[in-house]
Amino acid sequence: MILSMPLATNPYDIHIGKNLMAQLKMLIKKVYEGSKIYVITDQTVFNYHQEYLLKRLVDFEVEVVVVAPGETSKSFEVFEQVVDELIEKGIKRGHLILAFGGGVIGDLAGFVSATLYRGIDYIQIPTSLLAMVDASIGGKTGINTNKGKNLVGSFYQPKMVIIDTLLLRTLDKIEYQNGMAEVIKSAFIGDASLANQLLVSPVSEDEMIKRTIEVKRRYVLLDEFDRKERMYLNFGHTFGHAIERKSNYHIKHGFAVAVGMVIACDVGIKLGITSQETKEKLVALLKKYGLDKTVVNPNNYINEVFFDKKNINDILNMIFITDIGCPMISQIKKEDFNGCFN
Ligand SMILES: NC(=O)c1ccc[n+]([C@@H]2O[C@H](COP(=O)([O-])OP(=O)(O)OC[C@H]3O[C@@H](n4cnc5c(N)ncnc54)[C@H](O)[C@@H]3O)[C@@H](O)[C@H]2O)c1
Repeated sequence: MILSMPLATNPYDIHIGKNLMAQLKMLIKKVYEGSKIYVITDQTVFNYHQEYLLKRLVDFEVEVVVVAPGETSKSFEVFEQVVDELIEKGIKRGHLILAFGGGVIGDLAGFVSATLYRGIDYIQIPTSLLAMVDASIGGKTGINTNKGKNLVGSFYQPKMVIIDTLLLRTLDKIEYQNGMAEVIKSAFIGDASLANQLLVSPVSEDEMIKRTIEVKRRYVLLDEFDRKERMYLNFGHTFGHAIERKSNYHIKHGFAVAVGMVIACDVGIKLGITSQETKEKLVALLKKYGLDKTVVNPNNYINEVFFDKKNINDILNMIFITDIGCPMISQIKKEDFNGCFN
């Protein structure tokens, strides 16, 4: 399956399928004529898949930069280490970077690609479900600071995204659930029939991934730089990011977003935007995928959410759903949360 991303200045294709790595050389050659490739990956992904990857790259001269797995690698320190190692290994502006890993690697390697020598071409090869359905799509790259997640970054589109769903076979259950939260989010903001199907019957993995990407793709094409419709993808993220950050990233992104979506429904119900029935369907779906176990008191996060980089003058752009598949943005002040979570 190929989905195109026909952005005005940086169009590219998203390839989705099982064992796509078998075609890796042919796919790379569509966008890159050079011979030198720099892979950025994390230790866990590399341990599992180095052979699967490297035997497909034998015709290229390959250098690999490996970082520790996990969110801590999205830091200034690791960014600098990676840049230094790439330079030591001879990277030039005309070379190609492969971001081979989960969302952390996608964001970090994407940001390195965006900034080193003011821009090097890169390909996203996401290996976690979350990265396949979300992080690798749409060109947002970045790292965290002590003040919050993704505060430093850039929009920098890849030359191609290659999603080989066979890579998911080594992903552990928790990480799979983590990605399912973004699948459910996308269904709730843009594909009601996927949400309903997921509730009642199994959907094939490749089909589910493709349809989830289609939701994101639609919003990215409408609004590449996140001024309006793309913000719908932040459903659940207002509180999600705050929960993730306050837990020092012990609560994983997807699990935090799952609670964040329920909180957004609660606020939406209070404001007359969301129906109780919509919230119940969301909760049922989260429960089906084991994403209903994180319990937090939303009142403890209200100050935290106003730190978000997208807030202007203490007004929060928060995403709600009026119905399954129908998102809206509303501007929220602190007082609007009064009485929401008693
Ligand atoms: N750029 C965007 O648009 C965007 C969107 C959503 C999330 N994100 C970012 O993505 C990050 C989260 O992504 P993530 O959940 O993939 O985290 P991650 O990259 O840390 O991966 C999660 C864990 O799974 C392991 N892993 C990945 N693929 C594997 C595989 N195939 N087999 C075995 N283990 C594997 C990793 O080593 C890691 O330990 C966050 O930093 C978040 O901010 C970015």
